[in-house]
Amino acid sequence: MSDNALHRMSTGVEGIDKMLDGGLIPGRPYIVAGSYGSGKTTFCVQFLQQGVRQGERALFVSIDEPPAELRENVRFLGWDVGKIRILDVHPAAKAYSRRVSLVEVAAQRAVGSLRDARADAKTESMKQMSPDLSPQSLQLMLKQELQEVKYSRVVIDSLTSLKRLSGEGDDNDTGIMSLLRFLSEANVTTLIVTDLPDPTTLEPEMFLSRGIIKFHRLMVAMKTERCVSVEKFRGSAHDPLPRPLVITKSGVAVDADKKVGKTILRMFQAVPLDFS
Ligand SMILES: Nc1ncnc2c1ncn2[C@@H]1O[C@H](COP(=O)(O)OP(=O)(O)OP(=O)(O)O)[C@@H](O)[C@H]1O
Ligand SMILES: [Mg+2]
Repeated sequence: MSDNALHRMSTGVEGIDKMLDGGLIPGRPYIVAGSYGSGKTTFCVQFLQQGVRQGERALFVSIDEPPAELRENVRFLGWDVGKIRILDVHPAAKAYSRRVSLVEVAAQRAVGSLRDARADAKTESMKQMSPDLSPQSLQLMLKQELQEVKYSRVVIDSLTSLKRLSGEGDDNDTGIMSLLRFLSEANVTTLIVTDLPDPTTLEPEMFLSRGIIKFHRLMVAMKTERCVSVEKFRGSAHDPLPRPLVITKSGVAVDADKKVGKTILRMFQAVPLDFS
């Protein structure tokens, strides 16, 4: 590993650290993208576990899975998730409504908002249709959490669900930009999980994030093959090639010295490198 490793944060997966020229640059937000079942959540839990091992505070913001299910899913790894704080922010979660009052969310929305009355009406009708979870309310919740505990590692799983729950629109994009800015100002290293982005639209998180780690699950000759690629990493060199990944009972493992098979590589070559 290069001297860079001294200023880097280990992801908890040696091969991915190597692909990142030593690890993540601390205090910045990163995107973990990939199709379903590609290993995103497993990797993110490994990232938090690594922090716990080093005596850091770690927070998992769960939108997709109830905490009990997440604990159950990673139990096979023998991981002690007890030390990771899991914040269930799904609107259906009982604890959620107590964390941020609607008054605070409304106040936050009013500040700096240049929306017209029509947009307000749209937001209101959306709020009635779907419960009140948005990038803004999540930012407020995280602000409260970070005031209480100095977390150095945070995972948000997933932004795709957050977007679905809060509705599409310019408001959402502004909220996501603000959330990313807040996270880097708070100096926490954050992994933000998303499904594979629509290649025809450039999502704000893709160009604002400081790096994108992409997980791939492919069918090759009737077998599931996995690999991981670093699509971008601001301020650092990174491995330009996808590397093979396996999920075993110890979690995600990547061999950064091994090349993916020719068939897989051909699939990559056929895809434009949108976000590199
Ligand atoms: N013990 C195990 N050995 C091998 N593979 C496993 C094991 N446990 C889980 N897996 C694989 O890991 C996958 C789950 O990975 P994970 O939940 O991290 O994916 P994900 O990208 O977060 O998916 P989603 O988008 O659905 O949330 C499972 O679909 C399964 O194929
Ligand atoms: Mg997941």
